[in-house]
Amino acid sequence: MFISFEGIDKSGKSSQVKLLAEYLEKMNYEVVKTCEPGGTRVGQKIKLILLRPSSRISSISEFFLYLADRAEHVRQVIKLALEARKIVISDRFSDATVAYQGYGRGLDIAWIEALNEKATQGILPEITFLLDINPDLARQRAKKKDRIEREEIDFHHRVRQGYLELAKLHPERIKIMNGEGSPKEIHLAIRKIILKYL
Ligand SMILES: Nc1ncnc2c1ncn2[C@@H]1O[C@H](COP(=O)(O)OP(=O)(O)OP(=O)(O)O)[C@@H](O)[C@H]1O
Ligand SMILES: [Mg+2]
Repeated sequence: MFISFEGIDKSGKSSQVKLLAEYLEKMNYEVVKTCEPGGTRVGQKIKLILLRPSSRISSISEFFLYLADRAEHVRQVIKLALEARKIVISDRFSDATVAYQGYGRGLDIAWIEALNEKATQGILPEITFLLDINPDLARQRAKKKDRIEREEIDFHHRVRQGYLELAKLHPERIKIMNGEGSPKEIHLAIRKIILKYL
């Protein structure tokens, strides 16, 4: 089973990935915890370029770098783990590119979706937890900000709206979770949903 977590920066994704992985491991499931960008060695290098505040790259280059990261992530990690019948939990996946590069940066969404399909070899999560939070609140959680987090607050509002649009388009897959609750509250709500899929 393939599960992804999405949401704006500092929405609590990594915290929830960890809690869910621990919960599933306790139930003796084999879990592969992974992330984008940076889920492979080459992806780690791509991530450095993407998040370094001094990188001055265009939206289109940024998009291609995320796609390259994703193509290797699918090829080297996700596909193999799914073939071995493991539960894969990814901290971000293809929806992030639609939300950030599409709604945030303004690149053409149909075009992003077509190239996403190539990079992922058509692999999509079965469930996506969207941690929805007001960007002003998320910003207060951020200490040292990377290149994307330093974007103006409007950018993060557009990304949030983008994610909500995606959830409206794919209600069967994308579950909107209130990211403003406590970590425990959010985790319990996620458990309730995931139990129906196991
Ligand atoms: N539900 C929550 N309520 C309050 N604080 C939280 C909550 N979840 C996470 N945090 C805190 O907010 C910060 C960001 O959380 P986390 O790293 O899980 O988010 P993230 O979405 O993975 O962020 P990033 O975009 O940097 O990867 C951390 O300091 C974390 O301890
Ligand atoms: Mg994180």
